[in-house]
Amino acid sequence: MTLEPCSHWGRTPPCALALIEAKVARVVAATGDPNPKVCGRGLRMLEDAGVEVELGVREREAKEVNVSFLARMTRGTPWVRVKTAITLDGRTALPDGRSKWITGEEARKDVQFWRGRSGAVVTGAGTVRADDPQMNVRLDDQVRQPLRVVVDPRLETSPEAKILHSPGGRVLFVSAEENRERRNALEAAGAEVLRIPHPEVPGRVDLARLMVELARREVNEVHVEAGPRLTGAFIEAGLADELLVYMAPCLFGAGLPPAVIAPPQAPGEAPRWQIHSLAPIGGDIRILLRR
Ligand SMILES: NC(=O)c1ccc[n+]([C@@H]2O[C@H](COP(=O)([O-])OP(=O)(O)OC[C@H]3O[C@@H](n4cnc5c(N)ncnc54)[C@H](OP(=O)(O)O)[C@@H]3O)[C@@H](O)[C@H]2O)c1
Repeated sequence: MTLEPCSHWGRTPPCALALIEAKVARVVAATGDPNPKVCGRGLRMLEDAGVEVELGVREREAKEVNVSFLARMTRGTPWVRVKTAITLDGRTALPDGRSKWITGEEARKDVQFWRGRSGAVVTGAGTVRADDPQMNVRLDDQVRQPLRVVVDPRLETSPEAKILHSPGGRVLFVSAEENRERRNALEAAGAEVLRIPHPEVPGRVDLARLMVELARREVNEVHVEAGPRLTGAFIEAGLADELLVYMAPCLFGAGLPPAVIAPPQAPGEAPRWQIHSLAPIGGDIRILLRR
């Protein structure tokens, strides 16, 4: 019998009790539960009750399945994946900002899957202004809709934006500056507004603190789908665990980059990402990279 990680402990009785009551003789577990509320208590309870426990079977695979939950439990912040769709020459939009659509239908449907498995989808005010996206999950079998987060330092988003008037998860605007009038307008349109100013950079949102706030709301996995400025900010702040890149087989010749970041001192000094998986999706290529 496999002992599943019990993320619900603290709310319902530990599953170890149920196993003991069921008089199970042997439990094979992949990993212990890193939840500080649990801290190996379940395994100890089993051993104390005379149940044979084998721990660490296929631990690597189990950790991979639970990568987001483990991130939140062990470091107190969600697992962060940053998605971008690029052309062969690395453009994410035409010079005038239009990016619909770089990739094909299948790749865009694939993105819905990644949005759907996350607890929060984060975008920037620039993307909301340029694309007016809904940032919801449009899959037939989707039950839970992720929280939609807009990083909008000066609360410049129009209260008419589609993100506020489409079905989906709650919408949270995160600002750096207070603006009571704009806050009221966004709140009247149904959004929550939170101010998380960066302590050292005036006018910036503190993205690291935003991640702590999302973890507090029990978000295990964050899916960032933003333009080059916010994408670059996540990467430069060391907050991106994964890059999810869709590459379309076309060239734009000019346009926006995937991320605004400081260039390295030399080509060989650019931080390298590891290719975690590579797959053709329709007519495009999906590359998943890890830090
Ligand atoms: N191909 C793709 O995958 C893709 C995906 C999404 C969007 N896009 C394209 O990207 C373009 C929009 O890009 P964008 O760069 O203007 O928009 P963005 O990155 O989505 O949002 C920019 C917003 O984020 C804020 N921001 C940036 N860095 C920050 C930091 N460190 N802390 C807090 N806030 C920060 C900016 O504040 P400040 O104004 O203060 O700098 C600005 O309000 C559009 O053309 C859109 O079509 C492409």
